Amino acid sequence: MMSPTNGAQLPTAPPAESVHPAPPLRPSIAEVGVAELARNYGTPLYVYDAEMIRRRSRDLTRASGPGGGWDTVRFAQKACSNLAVLSLLRREGVVVDAVSTGEIHRALAAGFAPHADRSTSRDGLPPVHPIVYTADIFDRDSLDTVARLGIHVNCGSSDMLEQLAERVPGAEVTLRVNPGFGHGHSQKTNTGGEGSKHGIWHEEIPEVLKRAEWAGLSITGLHMHIGSGTDLEHLAEVAGALEKVALEVGRSLTTISAGGGLPVPYKPGEVHADLSGYLNLWNTTRRRLEGAFGHPLRLEIEPGRYLTAEAGFLITEVRAVKRQGTRKYLLVDAGFNTLARPVMYGSWHPLSLCSADGSERAALAEEVAVGGPLCESGDIFTQTDGGFVATRALPRAKVGDLLVIEIAGAYGFVMASNYNSKPLPAEVLIDGGVARLVRARQTPEDLVRGETV
Ligand code: LLP
Repeated sequence: MMSPTNGAQLPTAPPAESVHPAPPLRPSIAEVGVAELARNYGTPLYVYDAEMIRRRSRDLTRASGPGGGWDTVRFAQKACSNLAVLSLLRREGVVVDAVSTGEIHRALAAGFAPHADRSTSRDGLPPVHPIVYTADIFDRDSLDTVARLGIHVNCGSSDMLEQLAERVPGAEVTLRVNPGFGHGHSQKTNTGGEGSKHGIWHEEIPEVLKRAEWAGLSITGLHMHIGSGTDLEHLAEVAGALEKVALEVGRSLTTISAGGGLPVPYKPGEVHADLSGYLNLWNTTRRRLEGAFGHPLRLEIEPGRYLTAEAGFLITEVRAVKRQGTRKYLLVDAGFNTLARPVMYGSWHPLSLCSADGSERAALAEEVAVGGPLCESGDIFTQTDGGFVATRALPRAKVGDLLVIEIAGAYGFVMASNYNSKPLPAEVLIDGGVARLVRARQTPEDLVRGETV
């Protein structure tokens, strides 16, 4: 069998049709047939399982430990910002992070209020900001929007302080601090350390505090996010780093945020992380800081991937089965325009198959590479970091069968593009066994809207 780490430069290839036990078949998603979904909505199609999103949000909203639970679960909506998903999470008591004017607009459209309602202030804790704008810059549009709507800002660079103060005198702000270290599933998703443009450098805090004071701003929040797709060992280091900076900032702080980065298992054998130990660690930090400041602190967490990744599936149709020398390729109707993670990071997603009519078929497996329709060799879902084509054992497929790319609910649709003038796919949410279209597939007219000859 070809190892998943081998690449295009390998001189030898395996026999293309070695037989494997238990190849992955997926007849349904959340009790709705994959073939039925493809028939009703077309392919490529993103499908989300509402119950899985609820389950993951309750893992966090209902978590409790000796020092309390997460007071606030703030969804990093960049992971999956469909309005139906945002609205579902809002009803679960989750609030949102927004990184652009567009994400603020989405949050408002999904029913989030622009600013905190003082009545949400409980047990001496400050009220929750339903939307926080987190970025390293204000473009002119986002500055106008946060100023006009009174949206709370998490500043990732000190220039933002004066820019905000000019428009919103006396504003309360959060500082996003780069603790000098970071970690992610890829160097591209590591957001800490000198190699990252993100956050205010930890050694600059005294200087930044002076700037904030000059500008007349009050620093009420402190936030660190070291990267995405990291692990709890690395995340655990953040609590200590944040505590140190919090003591420098002092008593004006009312909220601390652990950022996002919670891992999810993508590959067989990977397991869910022990989140209770992680919560306990943050509670200890929170309680120590409360002791130092003499008032309660709101403890936030800001996951993206954790809440939606496992709930998402990308249904594609096999359109060609071809052999290039000894290697066999399945070409499907989704490409890196539909799901960019494999080409961007060499990300591994589970793949499964459903026969065209949904029937169970004798599940003989073979090693195949899976690619899409785009005019680039990099348009391969079974690739490793560096762009090397690998293969996967899949049930033998023919044209018309459906290939499901799994754990695609985070950084899936949101990173899709119109490359090769391909329309953005449709999105469907399944709840209680009922599928509902929550975003229509783009049309050819959508593709040229706003253009002139
Ligand atoms: N907070 C901030 C400030 C962030 O920048 C991010 C992710 C998150 C929270 C949520 O991180 P999560 O819990 O999802 O790991 N496109 C990449 C991921 C980029 C993440 C960017 N920031 C991927 O497909 O893996």
